[in-house]
Amino acid sequence: MCGIVGYIGKEKNIHFLVDTLKYLEYRGYDSCGVAVAKNGGVFLQKSKGKIENLKARLKEEKFSLGIAHTRWATHGVPNHLNSHPHFDCCKEIFVVHNGIIENYATLKDRLIRKGHKFISQTDTEVIPHLLEEFNKKEDIFEALIHTVEELEGSFAIVLFRKNTHKLLFAKKDSPLILGILEEGFLLTSDIPAILPFTKELINIEDKSLGVLEDNRCRIFDFNGKNRKLKKERVELHQVAISKKDYSHFMLKEIFEQPKVMERLISFYVKDEEINFKDLNLPLTKLKEISKIFIFACGTAYHAGFVGKYLLEKYVGVDVEIDVSSEARYRKIRFSSKDLVLAISQSGETADTLAAVREAKRKGAKVIAICNVLGSTLTKESEGLISTLAGPEIGVASTKAYTAQVFSLLLFSLYLARVKNIMNANSFANFLKELKNVPLYQKEILERANEIEKIANKFSRFGCFLFLGRGINYPSALEGALKLKEISYIPAEGYPAGEMKHGPIALIDEYRAVVCIAVKDELYSKMISNVQEIKARKGKVLGVVNDLNEDEARLMDEIITVPNFRITDVSPLVVAVPLQLFAYFVAKNLGCEIDQPRNLAKSVTVE
Ligand code: M6R
Repeated sequence: MCGIVGYIGKEKNIHFLVDTLKYLEYRGYDSCGVAVAKNGGVFLQKSKGKIENLKARLKEEKFSLGIAHTRWATHGVPNHLNSHPHFDCCKEIFVVHNGIIENYATLKDRLIRKGHKFISQTDTEVIPHLLEEFNKKEDIFEALIHTVEELEGSFAIVLFRKNTHKLLFAKKDSPLILGILEEGFLLTSDIPAILPFTKELINIEDKSLGVLEDNRCRIFDFNGKNRKLKKERVELHQVAISKKDYSHFMLKEIFEQPKVMERLISFYVKDEEINFKDLNLPLTKLKEISKIFIFACGTAYHAGFVGKYLLEKYVGVDVEIDVSSEARYRKIRFSSKDLVLAISQSGETADTLAAVREAKRKGAKVIAICNVLGSTLTKESEGLISTLAGPEIGVASTKAYTAQVFSLLLFSLYLARVKNIMNANSFANFLKELKNVPLYQKEILERANEIEKIANKFSRFGCFLFLGRGINYPSALEGALKLKEISYIPAEGYPAGEMKHGPIALIDEYRAVVCIAVKDELYSKMISNVQEIKARKGKVLGVVNDLNEDEARLMDEIITVPNFRITDVSPLVVAVPLQLFAYFVAKNLGCEIDQPRNLAKSVTVE
């Protein structure tokens, strides 16, 4: 993963590099570093942990050529030596890299045999040493062409050589954007990091190399042949991102959910009909769809799982869902009547992009369900359903999840209408219930204090099970993921009926079990499962509505959600107390909520 920045141009303060890097912190925050050309030498500073730590170590320093990096560790622990920028034996060539060099071990062996000295455990370090090797006979640009020929894997690389006032770059399968500033050039891993400085940019084509000098930009293919500069003007607004009065972005984003649901309704529902303008598939094609494949990762996968239940029930199509990292390697055959839905908040998740590329190679049509317009996924898919959740900063996904589920619900109803499966009355009835969702969510948010008290009681448990059935089985998976990623407490989501096939062995008075038991056709079976847990002394937290006194006595604590007119909207609502529960447990334990350890907001490596 990692975020990279490079600048060449009129003199600036070194804090400019680090402040730009801050926009990329969602890509990783294990360590960071900066290198700038200075008086014929190079000033290098690295720091473990967040960018703030690096910033605190930097004095005001003028520079006109420099690079910076924020790391999500793949090869080697997060420490000073493994932090970027990396350099060659003579400390003349400085490199930042995003991606993975898959053949680094072979290259490293070869370079060591030639006498190169390595100081880190990273894959990246082979790059400056290869450059050094080739630079013995060739200039640095020629050396870059030959270095790139040797590299297997994915890379966005930015580098400079001491005493050469040039910034060089190379890109293959990792994003790299070039901003054209009045005072110079700025390279970064994504567009939002450039937008505060310019709207004019070049989205660097794959398999490109480039050389930037003060007033000159040249881009080439991997053979050194000139590429045309394709400048774009990006009119996306830079949204002011602040926590407002919330203690964390995650909490703010949980509270934003009713607004996001309202936004989706007003964008996609017009005159009591659902309309998607960017599907890019003719109605005849949509009517024909007989099978849908859903590819996604993490929370987006859980949203897709809810979508599977909805599409099967309302559209009557077969749905297969896979985590993208598995889908990519399955021998799936696509027919012309199949559709792929690729779900991703960021639109940059490497596994999902790889699965989409493979599906497209085999002729499948792909619709992206995505939150970031202009992301790689939205560009590479035929169609788009924009989830309109707005920037999500907390690493633990909350509003993006419910926005994905809501979009899938809308899409299911839309397809059911297109295929003439749902009659006008049932459709109108469902739309009415969808409009209640923001109200249901608000009702729970108003009781956040109650949930905090319950979370405080439960935060002493060292292990959690989350159980649900049917359409709320994915809600259980998502509830468990939220808890484990921000509180580090082991938590597993299970379909409640499967508990007796193994996980029940875990149950005793020290286990907490969160049971999603809303009134639906599987309710009585869910209550039987709760009985089984109580018979083994497990501590039960029920997420319930409409339960009788006997059922209430079974639970140690309850969080009540509203009574639904149509229970298939329930995943959109039970998500809220589960998110709040995870948040308050993590808060109670003093965990770092918005940037949990080892995670990154956007997972751009496979
Ligand atoms: O950007 P994406 O939706 O493709 O990201 C997928 C997962 O990496 C993401 O949902 C991850 O699981 C979150 N940290 C969950 O909160």
